[in-house]
Amino acid sequence: MSVSEIAVHLDPGGLVHQLAGDVRTGLGSTPKVLPPKYFYDARGSELFDEITRLEEYYPTRAESQILHHRAAQVASLTGARTLVEIGSGTSEKTRLLLRALSAAGTLQQFIPFDVDPVVLQGASAAVAAEFPGVKVSPVVGDFERHLDKLPASPRRLMAFLGSTIGNLAPRQRAEFLTDVRRGLVTGDAFLLGLDLVKSPERLVAAYDDSRGVTAEFNKNVLAVINRQLDADFNLAAFEHVARWDREQEWIEMRLRSVRDQTVRISALDLDVAFGAGEEMRTEISAKFSHARISEELAAAGLRLTHWWTDPVGDFALTLSEPA
Ligand SMILES: C[S@@+](CC[C@H](N)C(=O)[O-])C[C@H]1O[C@@H](n2cnc3c(N)ncnc32)[C@H](O)[C@@H]1O
Repeated sequence: MSVSEIAVHLDPGGLVHQLAGDVRTGLGSTPKVLPPKYFYDARGSELFDEITRLEEYYPTRAESQILHHRAAQVASLTGARTLVEIGSGTSEKTRLLLRALSAAGTLQQFIPFDVDPVVLQGASAAVAAEFPGVKVSPVVGDFERHLDKLPASPRRLMAFLGSTIGNLAPRQRAEFLTDVRRGLVTGDAFLLGLDLVKSPERLVAAYDDSRGVTAEFNKNVLAVINRQLDADFNLAAFEHVARWDREQEWIEMRLRSVRDQTVRISALDLDVAFGAGEEMRTEISAKFSHARISEELAAAGLRLTHWWTDPVGDFALTLSEPA
């Protein structure tokens, strides 16, 4: 089988319209804030892929290690016929799951879902080439708005890897988990990858690597706004900042203005003033514990059934079912 035509629920015009609204609201707030989904144009996806291979960025390695050990168990516990992957990116680690489900003889369809059509296209072609018997049905959408647009499919395993859930603030997370629960029926399952609370030094290093790849990824959001909204952000006039918030238990990525400056956003007919040293939040990355996530899952009507970590306990993979 091959790749079906990409189902697009977020056309480029719609995304720019949404970006315009979010930029107007976010840059008009105090402190200024931008949502993380706009990092991911083709260049942003490429940079994220590079981040996953950095020495300091342990989450991808730790999650792969767990998947190596547990994918066959996930396959036999779920008997999934459809694997849906939310925020799928390159679907690199997902191959481990696809192989296990194929080996178990249950897998019929793979539905990768991402906001970036470019990364989705590449990943879908690669998966279709490796798994010729599996129908690949890519979907472009925003997982905060379009989970109800996923094609109907039997015996679903929904996977959300890479601790991307940590990029959602607590209220958005609750809404997201409720949407996931709505997409599942008895017999379906939800596989969630979570970065765990650990020493602030290791956490900050993972988001502020010595080669500056994360810094470039962070500034990419400014390049996206320049291109899409005809703005004149000077990327060299902003510095990357990664900070651990002990109370909230999340890493905050920010961009700090190195001097007083005014940025023109022509498409919005908007001038935005930044003071020297002013910081704008571009991403949160929450870190989890067993208690915190099982409570949040339960509140959304999901029951955590399995919790697996890598040997040093950096990362967890959890399996849940409709309660
Ligand atoms: C942190 S990366 C994780 C990628 C991959 N799942 C992994 O584990 O390495 C987040 C992925 O989610 C996608 N993404 C971010 N925000 C999104 C949104 N609101 N809707 C759909 N996809 C989104 C990005 O394009 C990116 O591929």
